[in-house]
Amino acid sequence: MLEDKAYTLISSEARKHDPSGMLLHVIHTPHSVLESTRRYREEAESLLRFDFSRLSGVVVSGMGGSFISGLFLYDLIADKTDKPLVLNRDAKLPKFIDKNYLLVTVSYSGNTEETLRVYSEGLKRGIPIVAVTSGGKMAEISEKKGVPLLRLPPGIPPRAAFPHITSALTSVLSLVTGIDAVSWLEEAARELQSRLEGAFSEGAALARLLHEDVAKGLVPLVYGYSPYTSPAYRFKTQLNENSKVHAFFGELPEGNHNEIMGWSGPLANFSVIFLRGREEPEYMRARIEFLEELLSSKGVPYYNLYGEGGGRAGELLSLVFKADVASVALALLRGVDPTPVDIISRLKTHLESRVGLTFLREAER
Ligand code: F6R
Repeated sequence: MLEDKAYTLISSEARKHDPSGMLLHVIHTPHSVLESTRRYREEAESLLRFDFSRLSGVVVSGMGGSFISGLFLYDLIADKTDKPLVLNRDAKLPKFIDKNYLLVTVSYSGNTEETLRVYSEGLKRGIPIVAVTSGGKMAEISEKKGVPLLRLPPGIPPRAAFPHITSALTSVLSLVTGIDAVSWLEEAARELQSRLEGAFSEGAALARLLHEDVAKGLVPLVYGYSPYTSPAYRFKTQLNENSKVHAFFGELPEGNHNEIMGWSGPLANFSVIFLRGREEPEYMRARIEFLEELLSSKGVPYYNLYGEGGGRAGELLSLVFKADVASVALALLRGVDPTPVDIISRLKTHLESRVGLTFLREAER
């Protein structure tokens, strides 16, 4: 139902700027989560035959749209498990990661150089690996070497594969930690489904405000705090890739110890969005109140976006959804196609010829 209405809720012109249907990917978020959790729960159980109790911890390695689900899982379970969850957004793997860790390498395309470097380093060190990818070199080598592989559905922009990647990772981490996070995610998706239109309207309304701000030359600055860091960071990256605008991410309370001084200087042309939820302790509320007063006194516009849902997973998923809607709607209001990321593609082509993937030779043998 929302599918028919969604574009018109943004503007009468919106549909024509979205020929590849990025908005539809976003609207399908809860459906895609439910479809994928069913699939990956079973696949993970049959593929992963490790003695999880003996693992020292888990490393999730990926870049960009393939990284964000790791951060989402960190928000969801890091304070509930005694297994360290290490996030790696780099081409290198820290030295302390050894055979006692499980390495989950996530690359939608399976061809991202940084993640492939980590993957091949993992193979070299004899670390147990699970590959999450739709294909590319990572799938090719995994099949050859018998590395467990959770295959993502093809033909989706990596950042729009968020529901699938998150479901795959949740399935793996549920097994490793013994926490049934898959059920939390499923419940979150059902809750989101039941309030999809309201959440969509909130995202679209925020996009209209940001559209005015961006037209005035203001740069979106998204603040998050634990456990709502991942939707805030996701929002920043979605504003970059979908809306094609600069946007920045700040983390509280750390930002109060440095970034806050920037509001007294000349470069304060920002429009601030706080991502918040029910797990907001008094000490955090007091800090945000202070910031809100400060921003008001400086004439800086700010907005609050709240998560909804019975549990943390629901709040996180609804925040990601609203932020995704806002980023795509901002693109459409600006008359920009949200799907192509031509500069990223150009960079990848440049790197292919300039650096190449020769480091994979050993792994391919
Ligand atoms: C594009 C996107 C990018 C990619 C990133 C890594 O939609 O989201 O941020 O995710 O360039 O590529 P993959 O995901 O293929 O490893």
